[in-house]
Amino acid sequence: MPERPFAIRPARDEDRGPLAGLFAAVAEERDGIAAEPPVDVERRAAAFHVDATIVATVGDDVVGGIWIDGPFFGFGELGMLVARDWRGRGVGSALLAAAIEWGRERGLHKLSLGVFPHNDAAIALYRKHGFEVEGRRRKHIRRANGELWDLIDMGLLLTGD
Ligand SMILES: CC(C)(COP(=O)(O)OP(=O)(O)OC[C@H]1O[C@@H](n2cnc3c(N)ncnc32)[C@H](O)[C@@H]1OP(=O)(O)O)[C@@H](O)C(=O)NCCC(=O)NCCS
Repeated sequence: MPERPFAIRPARDEDRGPLAGLFAAVAEERDGIAAEPPVDVERRAAAFHVDATIVATVGDDVVGGIWIDGPFFGFGELGMLVARDWRGRGVGSALLAAAIEWGRERGLHKLSLGVFPHNDAAIALYRKHGFEVEGRRRKHIRRANGELWDLIDMGLLLTGD
């Protein structure tokens, strides 16, 4: 098997800026994540909980990240993104696998997330890793253009009980 050209590792303090830059770039797409421009990059950088964030790197570049908010009553809420040029190469899958392992190691009983119904790539990725659809929040997210988008709730139980 060819060696993966990217590496997965826990985030560090110096990743805040690059991660926030990546977040702003993906927000510009106005498609996969709820955030839209303008993103306050400095504020976003400060908001990352690096202890609960995992990054994908290529050399010194951060090309993806996943973070686990919470825990809230034992569950963690996931957010993730991959740089456009790096999609479709297994980065998202590797990040999600690492986050699931992270959650198990810390005794979380569940991981959950919200995803837009049109986000086929993300939904397929989550399903591939065992997440199931648990519900749909109608007209949940107000977009900058005034549209109201539904949000699909997905979850993965990490324990058998
Ligand atoms: C969703 C996202 C994180 C996926 O990351 P990725 O690195 O492209 O995903 P991978 O290459 O690891 O693909 C993993 C699986 O996802 C699915 N997938 C990926 N791209 C897909 C596409 N364009 N269409 C359908 N399924 C796709 C497949 O099941 C794939 O598994 P396979 O390669 O065995 O078929 C990435 O597209 C992204 O960052 N999008 C913008 C931000 C976003 O939407 N974040 C999620 C918010 S909920």
